[in-house]
Amino acid sequence: MKRQTNYVALFGNAGSSAYAANAYSHCQSNSNFDPEKASGYSSAFNLLRSNLRMYQLIRPLLFRLDPERAHHVTLTLLAWAGATPPMRAALRRLFAIDDAKLAVDAFGVRFKNRVGLAAGYDKNAAAVTGLSALGFGHLELGTVTRLPQAGNPKPRVHRVPTAQAIINQMGFPNAGVDALRLPPRSTLMFDVRMGVNIGKGRDTPLERATEDYCALFQRVYQRADYVAINVSSPNTLNLRQLQARAAMVKLLGAVTALRNRSTPRVPLLVKIAPDLSESELDDVLDAVGQAGIDGVIATNTTTSRAGVPPAQQGLAGGLSGAPLRARATEVVRYLARRSEGRLPIIGVGGIMTADDALERLDAGATLIQLYTGLVYRGPGLVREALAALCKRA
Ligand SMILES: Cc1cc2nc3c(=O)[nH]c(=O)nc-3n(C[C@H](O)[C@H](O)[C@H](O)COP(=O)(O)O)c2cc1C
Repeated sequence: MKRQTNYVALFGNAGSSAYAANAYSHCQSNSNFDPEKASGYSSAFNLLRSNLRMYQLIRPLLFRLDPERAHHVTLTLLAWAGATPPMRAALRRLFAIDDAKLAVDAFGVRFKNRVGLAAGYDKNAAAVTGLSALGFGHLELGTVTRLPQAGNPKPRVHRVPTAQAIINQMGFPNAGVDALRLPPRSTLMFDVRMGVNIGKGRDTPLERATEDYCALFQRVYQRADYVAINVSSPNTLNLRQLQARAAMVKLLGAVTALRNRSTPRVPLLVKIAPDLSESELDDVLDAVGQAGIDGVIATNTTTSRAGVPPAQQGLAGGLSGAPLRARATEVVRYLARRSEGRLPIIGVGGIMTADDALERLDAGATLIQLYTGLVYRGPGLVREALAALCKRA
């Protein structure tokens, strides 16, 4: 039987209109808006983009490499481009669309647009400027843990091209929070916002997880626009148990109490799995409402293998990409409905096209994030999504 929790009472009304799921008003007022003109593209760049379709040329080369190696190469190139003024200017002209009409407020933060980078892509904040030049409104950096850790043995990332999917079993490899290269806000380029995703260390027992999250929060909150509490990776043993009601109330209560004593006040979000039942999602909403968490990131990768060819179903880890799309949308829709549109939701999972992006926003997300879509479609996907948002007037 469904509980009759009053989510409106839990989340309140104050300022909620800014979070409304259907808030496309920025673009709606401008039905003649032309994203091509607004982005300042010269015809030479249009020619380059449409005729060469750069990523279609680059992708076969990248796909010849082991997926993790290809990712490393991409991130290294992006870090280099970000540090090289003509290169970052070129990336910006090719991929970004800047228009004030794309801006949106979520959990008290102004974002220049709704499209962000999902956690796990830049775990150590190595390529912040290069990634910003691609046009993202925000980057979620991490997952970072308290201590450096190597993650699971390789190979631990597998492409499933026939399904436009990835199965990864990374296990939070990262250089540790002390090595996180978060740039000071004053040096950030292109008005990008930075979220930091924090996770329990592999060797931290579950009953001491709260200590990890509190210590991590304290280390990052001054430089972050929001902090994401990751309790949903399938690749850290038992981590997902932190999504159980009692564990979540305890964890979220402790971190929000710490946040409430900290200045500036940084929004706290929690990232959840797509594999939760409706009753478990209700538990999450209860815990989020009780603790005063500002929003939910839905979703992480799934343990389901639906949509994966039989030969690859045995690969261990979390599945992302196209097969996750329907379930991730369903979770967003459920959370939005149960919270009556008052809970800010970042929608992530299987967004591979501009239509997928619009669908996720229609389901109730205020912001969206990309990961696997970038691997299969390249950075043009950011631009495609932004252009669709502009056109939808
Ligand atoms: C290789 C890889 C590594 C990831 N690492 C993290 C991580 O460290 N922390 C996290 O919260 N999510 C991580 N994710 C999950 C993504 O942030 C995202 O939630 C998920 O992939 C679904 O989105 P997508 O279908 O667009 O990829 C990772 C995903 C992939 C494919």
